[in-house]
Amino acid sequence: MRTLRALVAAALLCLVPAVSAHAAADFTYDFEDGTTQGWGPRGGGVSVEVTADAAHGGTSSLLTTGRTATWHGASINEPFVRGVGYTVTAYARLVSGQPSSTIALTVQRTPAGGDTTYERVAAATVTDGGWVRLSGNYLFTAESTGLQLYAESSDATGQFYLDDIVITPLGDPTREPISSDFEDGTAQDWAPRAAAVLESSTAAAHAGSRALAVSGRSASWDGPALNVLGRMAKGEKYALSVWVRLGPDTAAGKLGLSIERGSGGTPSYERVVSPKDVPAGEWVRLSGTYTLAYDVDFLSLYVESDGGTFPFYLDDFSMTYVQPKPIQTDIPALKDEVPFVMGSAFTRPDTLGVHGELLARHFNSVTPGNELKWDATEPREGEFNFADGDYLVDFAIRHGMTIRGHTLAWHSQTPDWVFQDADKELLLKRLETHVRTLVTRYKGKIKVWDVVNEVVDENQPDGLRRSKWYEIAGLDFIRTAFRVAHEADPDAKLFINDYNTEFPRKREALYALVKRLKVEGVPIDGVGHQLHLNIEQPPASSVEATIERFATLGVDQQVTELDVSIYTDFSSSYDTIPPELLVQQGHRYKELFDVFRRQAAKLSSVTVWGESDDVSWLRSWPIPRLNAPLPFDDELQAKPAYWGIVDPSRLAPLVRRLEAPAGTPKVDGKRDLEWDLLPDSPLARVGDVSAGFQARSSAKGLYLLAEVTDPTVGKDDRVTFTVDGTPYVVGRSGGPKAAVQRTATGYRVEALVGTGTDVNVTVHDSSGETVWNGKVTPVPAVKLTSAAHCAPVLDGVVDRAWSAAPEIRTGAWIQGTSGATAKVRSLWSGSTLYVLAQVADPVLSEESPNAWEQDSVEIFVDPGNGKTKGYEDDDGQYRVSFSGRVTVGGTFDAGGVKDHVQAVAKMVPGGYVVEAAIELPTIRLAEGTLLGFDVQVNDATGAARTSAVTWNDSTGRAYLDTSHWGVLRLARG
Ligand code: XIL
Repeated sequence: MRTLRALVAAALLCLVPAVSAHAAADFTYDFEDGTTQGWGPRGGGVSVEVTADAAHGGTSSLLTTGRTATWHGASINEPFVRGVGYTVTAYARLVSGQPSSTIALTVQRTPAGGDTTYERVAAATVTDGGWVRLSGNYLFTAESTGLQLYAESSDATGQFYLDDIVITPLGDPTREPISSDFEDGTAQDWAPRAAAVLESSTAAAHAGSRALAVSGRSASWDGPALNVLGRMAKGEKYALSVWVRLGPDTAAGKLGLSIERGSGGTPSYERVVSPKDVPAGEWVRLSGTYTLAYDVDFLSLYVESDGGTFPFYLDDFSMTYVQPKPIQTDIPALKDEVPFVMGSAFTRPDTLGVHGELLARHFNSVTPGNELKWDATEPREGEFNFADGDYLVDFAIRHGMTIRGHTLAWHSQTPDWVFQDADKELLLKRLETHVRTLVTRYKGKIKVWDVVNEVVDENQPDGLRRSKWYEIAGLDFIRTAFRVAHEADPDAKLFINDYNTEFPRKREALYALVKRLKVEGVPIDGVGHQLHLNIEQPPASSVEATIERFATLGVDQQVTELDVSIYTDFSSSYDTIPPELLVQQGHRYKELFDVFRRQAAKLSSVTVWGESDDVSWLRSWPIPRLNAPLPFDDELQAKPAYWGIVDPSRLAPLVRRLEAPAGTPKVDGKRDLEWDLLPDSPLARVGDVSAGFQARSSAKGLYLLAEVTDPTVGKDDRVTFTVDGTPYVVGRSGGPKAAVQRTATGYRVEALVGTGTDVNVTVHDSSGETVWNGKVTPVPAVKLTSAAHCAPVLDGVVDRAWSAAPEIRTGAWIQGTSGATAKVRSLWSGSTLYVLAQVADPVLSEESPNAWEQDSVEIFVDPGNGKTKGYEDDDGQYRVSFSGRVTVGGTFDAGGVKDHVQAVAKMVPGGYVVEAAIELPTIRLAEGTLLGFDVQVNDATGAARTSAVTWNDSTGRAYLDTSHWGVLRLARG
């Protein structure tokens, strides 16, 4: 439609007489009629003529000579009509003897009331050796005069031929796919962003025989760019995909896909795929979606690195319009199904099209995801920018939604100037101005503010994060932020917001802070629990414990950023998500919303961090990967997670999995050490009853344990174990082959039942029943060793102290079947665990750049023996190479553990000795304490790891997952 209208308008104005007759079809300048077909010289002294000296097709081409400036060349007036998208292709070649140069097709025009612009349509490196194809897209939208398309050269005096210039108007260009495969030997529509050299190359290919080779980059952001102006429509979503590979002599690098958009000369940059690791020699796919949320007059997508200027290849690019599925209108609105305000984070693109409809339908609260943060609102001192903030606040008000203001003071997304040359007084003044300006601006509109965000660090002695805020101003930055926010809008509800508040140590650190601030009279109304959870951890019961704990402070509480990652670690990624994981996620959402509903009196709102998976921040954090943490999927359709909130009866039943290590605990109602080697698997609370469950396998049958939390004794209290269809019912008074004992919070059941794999555990009382249903698999016993109580000297010499401890040996091969092994002993004293590893490894190498591929010992320690899938904050992987180099792994940045190890290594005949001292400040070490523990020996040959062996964990995943480590018990003497 638009094409037609624009063409009619153009024809009436006689803007493009040469093209209008052909406007609906391609227009070709082939110079075969002997005329220049409207092309003329650009620049004084330039001459443009038709010649038969060279031709791409036919017998003639256009020759440009007499140039003396780079912008001199051949030009044609007004070949384009406003509002119509075009593809432009042309062939160029240099006159014999000319040095290679970049030839570009550029548009010059002067928008009404603006400055003359120069827009590159296509460019390529051209030589005198053959014809090179130039191609690109073009569209302009602003009323303009003096429009000219011209060919220019980076060589001021270069002489060149042009031929077969084809200008093709597109149908609806915003719906047409774009693809590039570089098989035709050209760079197709890609052009360099700066100095980069692009060429179709046969040196590598993802498919076919060619890829685009990118070299000569001048900066991390320099590289291949594709002009997509006019190819994306505002409010529409596009799927982008491209394959990349490192260039020659490049061992490592990260590449990502970005967008530059501009309007009125101001550029903005957005990441579609954050730079991700591209291992040498592998093709890696960068894929993501992009929704254009702004009016633009510049739009280009490009591949960049996160640093460096290394060469790379690009291949098989595609961009396709994503036809939006209508949102479901036959399902209940989330906000109608919960007894609290239901919110979602949102950003500008989420207000458009189906995303906007989904938000309006399901949520009665919204939180701007980035637009009210300091970097967005006050990028330079005193220069406030509320364009996006106002837009989002208006959207919310128009749709009758309340707004959570996020956030006034944070260590992240805060510009450097805030802390520059700041003493405490200046910093607090800047804070005061910022807080007062924001809260005043939105007074009466934003009724809840996250005044401070993420200020707690439970690993610091005083529980406070060592941010620049804290380092310069101490607690006063928190006091000031609350005071000023309160002064600016006394009716606003002021919150302190943080993540991991469901973990006991963080919970207590935040609790102590809030309590202290309340006592001081700081106007703090509520606590925000972000609740960035994962599919396994932590259990819903920890969330409930947190809510109950803060309720004792008499503060309001809100869940502010809920999402449930499908990953338990920071590096795994799926190409496609297993459907059963989404079912599991549905049950997880159910358990969480059971908690929220039960605690509704203490909870005024629950906000999810984004409405649908396609917009989740977990698509780029902590690494770019496919994640699906939210109630609606990429097409905005309800997921099991939605049904977990709204109607769990619609969820497919969940088949859980549990390993039953070999073991023969005594069935006497007592909890043997045997059971303590692993944590109980939770059965989430229903009514008043909840439970934990474990199994051990033996020739005699399955031993089952249920620790039931059920404070009131009732005649309905019972546990039913059903194994392969056979039920075993145990009431409070016990049963055959079962023992029951009362505990502080309920009762414990132990039973020996027949061997089987399909297990159902139902714990029942008068208020309801909670169920575990799944498959139990027998596995080898969990290994147990002990540490003697004594401190060695850390010098690489095996002193006598070590002989007090039993020796264990590595023997579980996770790579290879023979190689370096270790004999290991442990000691403890105070808050320190000591580990000795005597490694048999005659040939030692540190050649690989990767620490895990060097000859080294890894010690795994989980202070709580939580056996979690994924690492908790204080779980550590401590690696010591034979030369004493220490590297530490843990959660995302190993923040809770990385400074807690000291080690000495010493080479000895036939191998090396490692002595390590590991501080464990998060627990109190005592006789009987159980630590999750394992040891791994990496054996390197040259730059490769040729074998690896552990003590207990045979999964090869000890670096990602603590659940298969063995157990170390602290002993006396
Ligand atoms: C995230 C945004 O969603 C992203 O778009 C941005 O790149 C980084 O910040 N905790 C918070 C939020 O308090 O502000 C963060 O939001 C997610 C973690």
